[in-house]
Amino acid sequence: MPFITYSTHPFKDQKPGTSGLRKRVEVFRQGHYLHNFVQAVFDTQTELIGGTLVLGGDGRFFNREAIQIILKMAAANGLARVLVGQNGLLSTPAASCVIRKYAAAGGLILSASHNPGGPDGDFGIKFNMANGGPANEQLTDAIFARTLEIADFRSTEGDDIPLDTVGSYQLGDMSVEVIDPVSDYAELMAGIFDFEAIRGLLAGGFRIRFDAMHAITGPYAQRILEQQLGAPAGTVINAEPKEDFGGHHPDPNLVHAAELVAMTKGPEGADFAAASDGDGDRNMILGHDFFVTPSDSLAVLAANARLIPAHAAGIPGVARSMPTSQAVDHVARDLGIECFETPTGWKFFGNLLDAGRIAFCGEESFGTGSDHVREKDGLWAVLAWLNVIARRGQSVADIVTGHWQRYGRNYYSRHDYEGINSKAAGELMKTLRDRLPQLQGGSLDGRDVAYADDFSYTDPIDGSVSERQGIRIGFADGSRIVFRLSGTGTVGATLRVYLESFQPDPAQQQLDPQVALASLIETANRLAEIESRTGRAAPDVIT
Ligand code: G1P
Ligand code: ZN
Repeated sequence: MPFITYSTHPFKDQKPGTSGLRKRVEVFRQGHYLHNFVQAVFDTQTELIGGTLVLGGDGRFFNREAIQIILKMAAANGLARVLVGQNGLLSTPAASCVIRKYAAAGGLILSASHNPGGPDGDFGIKFNMANGGPANEQLTDAIFARTLEIADFRSTEGDDIPLDTVGSYQLGDMSVEVIDPVSDYAELMAGIFDFEAIRGLLAGGFRIRFDAMHAITGPYAQRILEQQLGAPAGTVINAEPKEDFGGHHPDPNLVHAAELVAMTKGPEGADFAAASDGDGDRNMILGHDFFVTPSDSLAVLAANARLIPAHAAGIPGVARSMPTSQAVDHVARDLGIECFETPTGWKFFGNLLDAGRIAFCGEESFGTGSDHVREKDGLWAVLAWLNVIARRGQSVADIVTGHWQRYGRNYYSRHDYEGINSKAAGELMKTLRDRLPQLQGGSLDGRDVAYADDFSYTDPIDGSVSERQGIRIGFADGSRIVFRLSGTGTVGATLRVYLESFQPDPAQQQLDPQVALASLIETANRLAEIESRTGRAAPDVIT
């Protein structure tokens, strides 16, 4: 099969963000946009040459086409083998699992996560390393640098590989194995959790619902929850993956998974419900008429880790992204284990997981996971909760309120201002940054400021430093305000304001978070001059 070198010209905007390169579909489909990025990966990740690549995506519009483009380029670039999910599908955590299990040199995951799909939606591509985790900043910087100077790419004009059937194919000297996207992952889950206890819970009439949001997790949840654990058929709703996610936002939160939330209300409501996002790495956990914030979810799972067979001996440490609430810090202190505060993005957990310093980690943005893979994992969190519920014999609400009574409650909320003017957003952040020295040691609306900085992280394993990761103002009473700009948006800028306060008194732990946080919200809005700078009187999304 003849391999051909095609000439191309660089695009200037291929810098990966918080989680890979994400752009509108139309951007990815212009000229050789995708080809350039993939060639830059092959040019910089030389261990792929002669090695194995894992390839799959969340099934969104352009997924199939992109897979065929990448397969041909992989063959022309001298890769030995590609493991690709059937129909081009692999959830992000399953891709991480497959990379690790088959000792691949890396993986390419096609997804824009929870961003909408379809011809007018978003597409994305992300390189994962041999440990199964997202490329670290040195790698993404190298890939980006290469995209700026790229002059040609290699490919071939061979036939498309039939992706709908599991089997082995040849593309020149390269073998392509189309694999069942679910089985390796399902096997991993069965080795971690107490499936017997969960089966017993479900057989006893505990009612659960899982919303796959017409995204990647439908086939995974049906196999594991319905077929292996015995949940009734139909437990998984919106189970069929669709290229446009049925026209919805595949983002598991109270706004976008409203249908599921409604199923937890009333006397017939489910005892437990959960949802996952476009590529299967996020999760939302609900009890009967009860929402578990992702920050609390991490803390509760850490406190109950020993009930999960794979962690029966206890966990060495935990980590949370900086804007995530400090709920898990209280648990770590109590357990006498390490607790790390990292910048936003799963890639910052990789070194800590590889070094065995932490076993559980999470982000406020509906991301929770463990050392079983190097991505956050929606279904892992769901199974972890079911495992804990089955072993404790308590409802979700009782587990969480009991947790607050013991450790105190961290009221928490995130306010997002989406699609605002990029220049205005930059100026807002700059003004805040300039004010930090004045805030230090002072007080703000009656609260003493304990620290005020632009978060900088030194990786304890490799010593790399990541600066300007968000402005945080911490108060002496344990409350915090954090401001940062999103690194995943594709239109304008998104300002995220994270708010947190600490309430140790059980008698005061039942408030609506927006009420409990009201004065802090006011302080944040005033300090950042949000309305005058962005023209927005209220956030677009509150989680
Ligand atoms: C968002 C979340 C972040 C998460 C990322 C990828 O990034 O805030 O926690 O890791 O999506 O799922 P952001 O848009 O804030 O940069
Ligand atoms: Zn995702």
